[in-house]
Amino acid sequence: MSHRVLTGITTTGTLHLGNYVGAIRPAIAASRASGVESFFFMADFHALIKCDDPDRLAHSSRSIAATWIAAGLDTDRVTLYRQSDIPEIPELTWLLTCVTAKGQMNRAHAYKAAVDAATAAGEEPDAHVSMGLFSYPVLMAADILMFNAHKVPVGKDQVQHIEMARDVAQRFNHLFGRGQELFVLPEAVVDAEMELLPGLDGRKMSKSYDNVIPLFEGGAQALKDAIARVVTDSKLPGEPKDPEGQTLVTLYDAFATPEQRAAFRAALRAGLGWGEAKQQLVALIDGQIGPMRARYAELMAHPEQLEAILQAGAVKARAIAVPFLKTLREACGLRPYTATASTAAAKAEKVAQPVFKQYREADGKFYFKLLSADGTLLLQSHAFEQGRDAGQWVARLKREGWVADAPVQREASEADVAAALAAFQEA
Ligand code: TRP
Repeated sequence: MSHRVLTGITTTGTLHLGNYVGAIRPAIAASRASGVESFFFMADFHALIKCDDPDRLAHSSRSIAATWIAAGLDTDRVTLYRQSDIPEIPELTWLLTCVTAKGQMNRAHAYKAAVDAATAAGEEPDAHVSMGLFSYPVLMAADILMFNAHKVPVGKDQVQHIEMARDVAQRFNHLFGRGQELFVLPEAVVDAEMELLPGLDGRKMSKSYDNVIPLFEGGAQALKDAIARVVTDSKLPGEPKDPEGQTLVTLYDAFATPEQRAAFRAALRAGLGWGEAKQQLVALIDGQIGPMRARYAELMAHPEQLEAILQAGAVKARAIAVPFLKTLREACGLRPYTATASTAAAKAEKVAQPVFKQYREADGKFYFKLLSADGTLLLQSHAFEQGRDAGQWVARLKREGWVADAPVQREASEADVAAALAAFQEA
C-alpha cells in the first residue's frame, strides 16, 4: 500500500486568501507527489454539529468543494468525497464508540472548553453540549481509520483528536485484531512552516479580525478593494521604503518567485509608491487566482457538474470502505449466522480428537504413540531405526484402523484403540 494522506475540510463559512495560501495550495501540491494516495473530504457531518442553518450548511459545503477543485485539486488522481455520502463512516463510528473510554472523551479540548464556558456563566456544565459535540473525536477517528490513513495534516488544535484516533485504533486492534493490525495508527502532521498569511492590518488573516482578503468571492474587484485597504507606512512615492516587515511585502512573497521578490524589494527601496506597489500585488495575485475564479464560477453555476464529481469520488471511497467495514464487522462478531457460526464448535471438536505423536528418543531411535482425546496412552510403538518407518506405520494405522501385527504395545482395550483409530478414518 502506498502512503495515505487524509485531509478533512470542515464545511463552514467560505474561504479566504489565507486559507488558500496556508492550507489549500500546500495540500494540493502535496497530493501531486508520487507514492502518495490522497483523500480529501467535506466533513459535513462534523459541520452539522455546529450548524443549525440547513441552507448555510448546504451552500458552504458546495462552495468549499468548488473552491478546492477550482484551485487545482485533481479529482482523477485524488479521492474527493462528502463524508455524508459514505454511510460506512457513521457505522464505523458506532463500532469505535463501543471501544472508546468516556473518560478520554471528557478530556477533549473542545468539550472541556464548552464545559468551562458554561460553568463560568453559572450554568450546568453540559448545558450547551450535544452528544454530537461530545462524540466529535470518535467521528473524526472513523474518518481517518476508515481509509487507514498514515498521515493526517492538521492544525495544532486538532492534534489531540489524532492522538485519540490512534488510541481508539490501538484498542480496536487489540480487542478484535487477533494479532493482526486491522487499523493503521495515524500520525498528525503539523506543518511548522505552514505559511500564515497576514490580513489587511498585519495580524493573522481571520474572519474574527475582519481583515480578510476574499479568495473568489466578489471577483477581481473585491480583491482590488481589499488590497487597497492593506495598511502601509505613510512614505510618499519617490521616498525609499524599507520592505521588511511590511504586510504588503509578505502578501507579495506568498505569490512571487524568488526573482520577483528581490525585484519588488529593490523597487520599494528605490521609491516605488505604495499605490503602484498595490497594483503590482493585485496583478500578481490575480494572475494566479483569476483563472481559478473563472472555474469556480462555472462550478457554482453548474452544480450538477460538481455533484457528478463528488458522486464519482464517493464511488471510489466506498470501493475501499465497503469491503473494509465488512472485515471489521466480522472481526467484532457481527456475522451472518451461516458462514462462520460453527467455527468455535469445530475447533472444540478438533481439540477433542485422539492424536498420534512421533518423536525421537535420546537413544537416537524413532517412536510414535497414540493418545486418546483425553490424553491417555493407547498405543506405544517399538523403536524404529528410520523416522520414515515410524511415519509409515502411523499412516497405515490411520488409514486401516487397528492392525493386529502392528509393531506396538497396546496400552488399552482393543475396542478403545479401534474407536480412537476410527476417528481418523472419519476425518
Ligand atoms: N476537525 C477537523 C477540523 O476542524 C476537520 C476534520 C473532520 C478532519 N474529520 C477529519 C480533519 C479527519 C482530519 C481528519 O479542522
